Amino acid sequence: MIRVLILVVSLFACSAGRSCAHKCIVHQSGHIARPSVLATDKAMPDDLTPEEQQELENIRRRKQELQEDIQRLKDEIAEVTSEIENLGSTEERKNMQRNKQVAMGRKKFNMDPKKGIQFLIENDLLKNTSDDIAQFLYKGEGLNKTAIGDYLGERDDFNIQVLHAFVELHEFTDLNLVQALRQFLWSFRLPGEAQKIDRMMEAFAQRYCQCNPGVFQSTDTCYILSFAIIMLNTSLHNPNVKDKPSVERFISMNRGINEGGDLPEDLLRNLYDSIKNEPFKIPEDDGNDLTHTFFNPDREGWLLKLGGRVKTWKRRWFILTDNCLYYFEYTTDKEPRGIIPLENLSIKEVEDKKPNCFELFIPDNKDQVIKACKTEADGRVVEGNHTFYRISAPTAEEKEEWMNSIKAAISRDPFYEMLAARKKKVSSMKRH
Ligand SMILES: *[C@@H]1O[C@H](CO)[C@@H](O)[C@H](O)[C@H]1NC(C)=O
Ligand SMILES: *[C@@H]1O[C@H](CO)[C@@H](O)[C@H](O)[C@H]1NC(C)=O
Ligand SMILES: *[C@@H]1O[C@H](CO)[C@@H](O)[C@H](O)[C@H]1NC(C)=O
Ligand SMILES: *[C@@H]1O[C@H](CO)[C@@H](O)[C@H](O)[C@H]1NC(C)=O
Ligand SMILES: *[C@@H]1O[C@H](CO)[C@@H](O)[C@H](O)[C@H]1NC(C)=O
Repeated sequence: MIRVLILVVSLFACSAGRSCAHKCIVHQSGHIARPSVLATDKAMPDDLTPEEQQELENIRRRKQELQEDIQRLKDEIAEVTSEIENLGSTEERKNMQRNKQVAMGRKKFNMDPKKGIQFLIENDLLKNTSDDIAQFLYKGEGLNKTAIGDYLGERDDFNIQVLHAFVELHEFTDLNLVQALRQFLWSFRLPGEAQKIDRMMEAFAQRYCQCNPGVFQSTDTCYILSFAIIMLNTSLHNPNVKDKPSVERFISMNRGINEGGDLPEDLLRNLYDSIKNEPFKIPEDDGNDLTHTFFNPDREGWLLKLGGRVKTWKRRWFILTDNCLYYFEYTTDKEPRGIIPLENLSIKEVEDKKPNCFELFIPDNKDQVIKACKTEADGRVVEGNHTFYRISAPTAEEKEEWMNSIKAAISRDPFYEMLAARKKKVSSMKRH
């Protein structure tokens, strides 16, 4: 009887606060000696006094209420659980949504870099700071490296800031120049235009010198040597280039570029060996390697040249290099008979009694004398006296090739000039 009363009291206490319902059940099952008495069937044991029957009736009612409580609690738990689950899946859904948008941003970027970046910024997926954008490009996940190059090459002040932040993310400390170039040229595809290449390689050279103080006298030296290395890569590895320079030639080609002084031979030898052993890999390599994008192809061969004053045809050995056309009397001559800078000139096919002719001329000014020089028989160097240069090639095919090479040399002027200006700058220091 007392036990039953305790149970009733505890049931009351429990129904006041749902949280202890579970405890009560334990209490109940742990203390009720005669569970059959509490069974829900309405049968009344007949050995009970009327008071006891009343008690039992009350207990059964409380039990009923308790079960209802438990059910409510279960429902509540189920509700909360499903809320929690939903909460998880909205979080997940948000994440999925975000990932989808990032993927879309990358796709947009690959089609139009500026629009892609704008999309990512407008959707709060990327902060509009040069550092954050640079990080995004440097990670490069899912980004087309040609598109990265296009974005970094833009002339906009903001893009230039991003370019610098991007280059700063590269760590070149203790790398030699070839190793650093490998890393740099792999992180995006260098675009074709001279101005862009110039900005990017300038930023590269600055960063390299910042990471490796004391290796080069100036950023210009680093810049010029970087191009010499890229050219060397093509000379050594492009099967179309027959003439493979030796390490001695590479060393002598780079004389005087360290602010007038020479770079240590070991250093040049190391760089040469590194390139010789393993060519540069560039992303999106379409076979048109970079050299052809911004360096004038060299060409040499026999051509006939019509005299300026005396209109006779002379056979000369011509060399096209450094944006100039040099001609020699013999292939073995050290000094050219004449030099024709191609700057500001145009080229066209012409008819003549000689076959396969073409002509170099100044567009829009037929009577102006072309700036050029030649060596007289007595060794004096004098200004040329040509308003045009008429040249005849041995075959139609060679005429085509010469014209293409000269055209290329003329149209790729800007880069040549930039590089030449830097070379002039570093070699002029020799005199001081
Ligand atoms: C990002 O910032 C730059 C300069 O701070 C601004 O020119 C450009 O419009 C901004 N872009 C977006 C998408 O807000
Ligand atoms: C990257 O873009 C360039 C130029 O749009 C395209 O030629 C090249 O196939 C693209 N590369 C990849 C891997 O999609
Ligand atoms: C290096 O040469 C290889 C072979 O010609 C070429 O595929 C690659 O694009 C070159 N790398 C550079 C940076 O020019
Ligand atoms: C080419 O033209 C520019 C601009 O007219 C001039 O400054 C330059 O001296 C010219 N170069 C030659 C070699 O004539
Ligand atoms: C250049 O040639 C013209 C005729 O074509 C001649 O009148 C002139 O004197 C020549 N000048 C020189 C410096 O030889």
